Amino acid sequence: MLQTKDLTIRFGGHVAVNAVSCSFAPGTLTAIVGPNGAGKTTYFNLISGQLKASGGSVLLGGRDISSLGVSARTRAGLGRAFQLTNLFPNLTVLENIRLAVQATRSGRHRRGLNLWSIWSDHKALLRRAEEILNTVAMQDRADAIVASLPHGDQRKLEVALLIALEPQVFMFDEPTAGMSVDEAPVILNLIRDLKNDKRKTILLVEHKMDVVRELADRIIVLHNGELVADGDPAEVIASRVVQEAYLGASAQDASEPSDGPAAGGPAAAQQGSTA
Ligand SMILES: Nc1ncnc2c1ncn2[C@@H]1O[C@H](COP(=O)(O)OP(=O)(O)OP(=O)(O)O)[C@@H](O)[C@H]1O
Ligand SMILES: [Mg+2]
Repeated sequence: MLQTKDLTIRFGGHVAVNAVSCSFAPGTLTAIVGPNGAGKTTYFNLISGQLKASGGSVLLGGRDISSLGVSARTRAGLGRAFQLTNLFPNLTVLENIRLAVQATRSGRHRRGLNLWSIWSDHKALLRRAEEILNTVAMQDRADAIVASLPHGDQRKLEVALLIALEPQVFMFDEPTAGMSVDEAPVILNLIRDLKNDKRKTILLVEHKMDVVRELADRIIVLHNGELVADGDPAEVIASRVVQEAYLGASAQDASEPSDGPAAGGPAAAQQGSTA
């Protein structure tokens, strides 16, 4: 169970996340919605440790991890998508994934220096990296240099690296933003698969309400840094607070399916070919 208690951060006089208390259980996908600037990404950054809270705490499995840095939280099981700045831009896609798999596994069972085990480990790591590459439908990009990847592939690679970490909690922040109609379904299918693994806790920040409607077991709404609604998707979407929160920049997203890259029609039509 992941919990935040009164989690707060101030930037100068501005309270970007204001005393947010919330629990996220394994086997549930919680969508976090709210207008631009509501504090969704900041909330993620506070959970993952990228930002240090001004107040409140983060607990994972009952343990207070508030004082831990990003890498210790990652080891504890929190998975936040890598940003490409964390990668080795001059290595290939496959090599980057292999390194992520290796980093995860070496933390778990370290063996002595032994040529045979290095060689057999290497093969096992490579096999796992290839598997992950297939999961994000990037087989044809295995040997591409990361720095040269188009935006959509970079985003898919971020998800691939997240999977390589084998976290207990997956945090996706607008995972399909900027993806094309054939790329977005790959990521959405992958999130669907993760959902079927009842041990995983999934947090998804998403503006596209058709995606939220389909995937979320629960929706929480942030508005001006505060948690203003929490509950069953249909009820939350219909609630006055959501209708009001979305008036303005995001009103369209709230009231009708987005016409963005992951829109229902064309995206759904592509699913067969990418599965
Ligand atoms: N490092 C920072 N320094 C100062 N202000 C910040 C910082 N990070 C975020 N903010 C402010 O905190 C508020 C919340 O921003 P945040 O990025 O979390 O919103 P969001 O809900 O993710 O929005 P969007 O839907 O546009 O991604 C905004 O007013 C933003 O300007
Ligand atoms: Mg954001």
